[in-house]
Amino acid sequence: MTRQPTSRWLRRPHDGSGTALAYGADYNPEQWPREVWEEDVRLMRQAGVTIVSLAIFSWARIQPDEDDWDFAWLDEAIDLLHANGVAVNLATATASPPPWLAAAHPQILPVTREGQTLWPGGRQHWRPTSPIFRRHALRLVTALAERYGEHPALAAWHVSNELGCHNVYDYSDDAARAFRVWLRERYGTLATLNHVWGTAFWSQHYSGWDQILPPRLAASYPNPTQQLDFKRFSSDALRDHLRAEREVLRRLTPQVPVTTNFMVMGEIKAMDYASWAQDVDFISNDHYVVPGPQSFDELSFSANLTGNIASGRPWYLMEHSTSAVNWQPVNVPKGPGELMRDSLTHLAHGADAICFFQWRQSAAGAEKYHSAMLPHAGADSEVFRSVVDLGRTLEDLAAVAGTVRKPAKVAVLFDWQSWWASEQDSHPSSLLRYRLEALDWYSALLALGVRADVVPVGGELDRYDLVVAPILHVVPAELADALTAYAEGGGHLVTTYFSGIVDEHDHAWLGGYPGALRELLGIRIEEFAPLFAGQSVELDNGTTGTVWTDRVDVIDPSVKVLVSYAAGEQAGRPAVTRRPVGAGSAAYISTRLGAAGLEPVLLELLTAAGVAPELPPAVAGQVELAVRTGEGQEFWFLINRTAEQVEVPDVPGEVLNRRSAAETAGGGLLLQPRGVAVVRRPAET
Ligand code: GAL
Repeated sequence: MTRQPTSRWLRRPHDGSGTALAYGADYNPEQWPREVWEEDVRLMRQAGVTIVSLAIFSWARIQPDEDDWDFAWLDEAIDLLHANGVAVNLATATASPPPWLAAAHPQILPVTREGQTLWPGGRQHWRPTSPIFRRHALRLVTALAERYGEHPALAAWHVSNELGCHNVYDYSDDAARAFRVWLRERYGTLATLNHVWGTAFWSQHYSGWDQILPPRLAASYPNPTQQLDFKRFSSDALRDHLRAEREVLRRLTPQVPVTTNFMVMGEIKAMDYASWAQDVDFISNDHYVVPGPQSFDELSFSANLTGNIASGRPWYLMEHSTSAVNWQPVNVPKGPGELMRDSLTHLAHGADAICFFQWRQSAAGAEKYHSAMLPHAGADSEVFRSVVDLGRTLEDLAAVAGTVRKPAKVAVLFDWQSWWASEQDSHPSSLLRYRLEALDWYSALLALGVRADVVPVGGELDRYDLVVAPILHVVPAELADALTAYAEGGGHLVTTYFSGIVDEHDHAWLGGYPGALRELLGIRIEEFAPLFAGQSVELDNGTTGTVWTDRVDVIDPSVKVLVSYAAGEQAGRPAVTRRPVGAGSAAYISTRLGAAGLEPVLLELLTAAGVAPELPPAVAGQVELAVRTGEGQEFWFLINRTAEQVEVPDVPGEVLNRRSAAETAGGGLLLQPRGVAVVRRPAET
């Protein structure tokens, strides 16, 4: 067999047959008798499935004991899938260690901050830093790579599964040892560490590396920089595990791309995925909708951020749900049209593979009430009909495959360091929510019909006319310089409360807040003035602030006060300011306005930055626009955010998914409730 060159995307095992967009699910055939597999592949063909992720939780089945291996069932499953035109994203199966391993080596089990062991019985009960676990995991990876590396069905390697889903923070002795090594590499000397951690405070000075521990349950607040460094270390430790498995795979099967499924979604914050992006051949993500007032905006936000972590290139949606999940307090099914709309929204933001957890709903185990492509009800079900419909639609949209995200004119910066640091304990307020603030800005942009990119901090800013930096709490000197240069170069920056406050060591910038951004913003704050839960304050533009206020003083006469506090302790003081900087500007919002409250301010800032919506004003707010581009063409995704029909006037172009989502009427497009139309047009020059 000839080896194919390493690809940045799925290896194409089926010489061009099937759709160019991949479609499928996690597949767990080991949960079912052999005869069920035949029905599986028949129904997969019916649904248009092109790829499955296999063997994710199969370690105990593949290796029932330390020196006992059973590949026969997996050989058979892969061959059957291949014979039916289904490619395999083969997991390395290391996500959930088998009982024999934990019994022989209880030192692989994670330990909580309180000192409790996390026992086997669930999944992912392993320490990211355990040398014993690593050795056994790599042995398994080696065995799989040697056996299946040349199999024609193999499209990619899927390392582990959702690294850090349950085991990211481990406070064991292994973690303590690895943390010390990480700290030595970062700081070199104990003197530096003592300075950075501010150990002059509360008699915390270290005189030997061995005295340093993870921030285990303590009598009072553990050292904040120790906590922040432990978060950094824990994300890096999982990335090291990814790298270790990847190295084995690259050595043995250089022709096969390697990925792992990220969890860019909701409040999952422990993995700094922007720092993992270079460690995979293509980005994969899992996303689940958590019902709530901004749930669909959150999906779009996460897909958008994932697409930008992937630098605009295609990425793989490895898991989402066809309907209800099993892990919320109350698990409601998706409404009509949501399966299609959610899937096409990920596609709109750059996904070239649309997959679900899982193919066939389990009959036993903790996830038996979690939806799947093939539900308990069987193929004669609304869910399966929707699954087949989506498969056909993805075939209609094959031309989108391989195109990239078209950059927007507005960026919302996203920064894991600021997320981690701003929400630590012993702060002015425990009510601050980093990701919610960022999401509010994104919702406000959607409501105004303005396309935006959610981008990890540290990237190129100059391509954007407006940059929103919500709660940019950690601002090292270089970042302050970059933001200043951006504004001086004609860019328009807006930031919010609790931004610019600390450097990379979580040390406060002195001289008044917002610290590193004080000069740029032309304001000075002597004291924060957060609000109690349920407390709010009126502003003179008719909006209302919650969570936070600041005592803002203007220190640069060129600063314009856009909005002031109308009541409360800060009455008469500036709430929103804007300072002209060269051809650009720097604005500050000192309170939480919420998505609706941000709209008037945002509109003013967008106008100043010269950014106009690309959609007709009549549908702003009702329709989200996302654009992919390639080979002289653009694909406009018009996503109906409402549960009503919406008519979009004047969108010339060819509707690719007419059958399933949108109909033309009088020269415009009639979007069905929650419908998505994909329109092909010549690229704008
Ligand atoms: C993910 C996981 C899957 C499945 C799914 C259920 O976190 O990777 O294995 O558990 O959630 O929503």
